[in-house]
Amino acid sequence: MLIKSIESLNDGLNIFWSDNSSSCFPWLWLKDHSESQVDLHPDSKQRQIDVFSNPPNNSVDTVLLDSASKYITIRWEDESESSLSFELLQSTSEPKLPQSLAMNSSTCWNTPGEIKIFPEITYKDFMSDGGIKTWLSHIQRVGFALVIETPETPDATKELMERMAYIRNSIFGGFSVWDNKLENPDDTAFTSLAIEPHTDGTYVHDAPGLQTLHCIKRDSIGGENQLIDGLAIAEKMRHENPDAFNILCNVNIPGRYIKPDTYLEAYRSLFRVNDNGDIIQVSFNNHDRAPFRLENDQMVKFYDAYKIFHNLANDPCRQFEFMLDPGKVLTFDNWRLLHARSSLTGYRQLCGGYHNREDFESKLRSV
Ligand SMILES: [Fe+2]
Repeated sequence: MLIKSIESLNDGLNIFWSDNSSSCFPWLWLKDHSESQVDLHPDSKQRQIDVFSNPPNNSVDTVLLDSASKYITIRWEDESESSLSFELLQSTSEPKLPQSLAMNSSTCWNTPGEIKIFPEITYKDFMSDGGIKTWLSHIQRVGFALVIETPETPDATKELMERMAYIRNSIFGGFSVWDNKLENPDDTAFTSLAIEPHTDGTYVHDAPGLQTLHCIKRDSIGGENQLIDGLAIAEKMRHENPDAFNILCNVNIPGRYIKPDTYLEAYRSLFRVNDNGDIIQVSFNNHDRAPFRLENDQMVKFYDAYKIFHNLANDPCRQFEFMLDPGKVLTFDNWRLLHARSSLTGYRQLCGGYHNREDFESKLRSV
């Protein structure tokens, strides 16, 4: 689509596109969105014009379209000038409410067999030019990535994580090393017990975006890890159980985490959707669910819906099961995948930590 012609109206500037459609951009919006060096920082893209403190003089002197139809320049009567690119005008040609970034459900998987390309990369490739891009695209596509042949040390794991972004701090610390022999573990993650499918951080407002785990020492039997695609369950329930899907989109389930001097609580629906109904985030942890009570008929419906999700997540057919061995670093999208672990006997030492979701998205945009 190209700009065919422009026409100044009282309300704004009418742009006629090459497909014979037109868009009328209000004068105030055009002034506010000027991309000239004075109005918009050329590198950070931070807005430098303020159309609110000093109400602008919106009297237009002239409007020009450059010969290549790439820029529109507006000269105002106060002698200021606004400049807007074709790309900005075209991307905003249709008015619509801004939407939070949704996940792409086209590559979600109901069974491990539906994962077309196994998301694995060697440490050497990961650390080479372009390695992080491949790794990020694996996580974006199927929700996780494995880096194999990694040096079996905390330092190498930390360095790997910091290649993505700074490591997030949480009640568990930043980058951590732990084993299953703690005397008074305050979380099942630090025990040898089986852990049901869940997402981490249902009790914090901004759940961790990515989680990385590396088992650096293993002298144990059992302890297999399982990953389940929560996005695939969401899409299945949307189509097969729409009423249950809607309940899980609308009930803000409280999550809770209590230990000495700490009492965290947050509220989030199991399926968080944007205004288009697309999935932004999946949150599920039955163990950390705090008490709440709905009207009896609604509570029954909630339990039925939650049970459908719970049973789908616990269906072994949906679970990608593997062993976290020394040298194999797992990173997964905690806003999309659920993770679980079988019980084990023996000794394991692990290390890892979290990244924020926005840093994952930032890296995807910038590599
Ligand atoms: Fe967990």
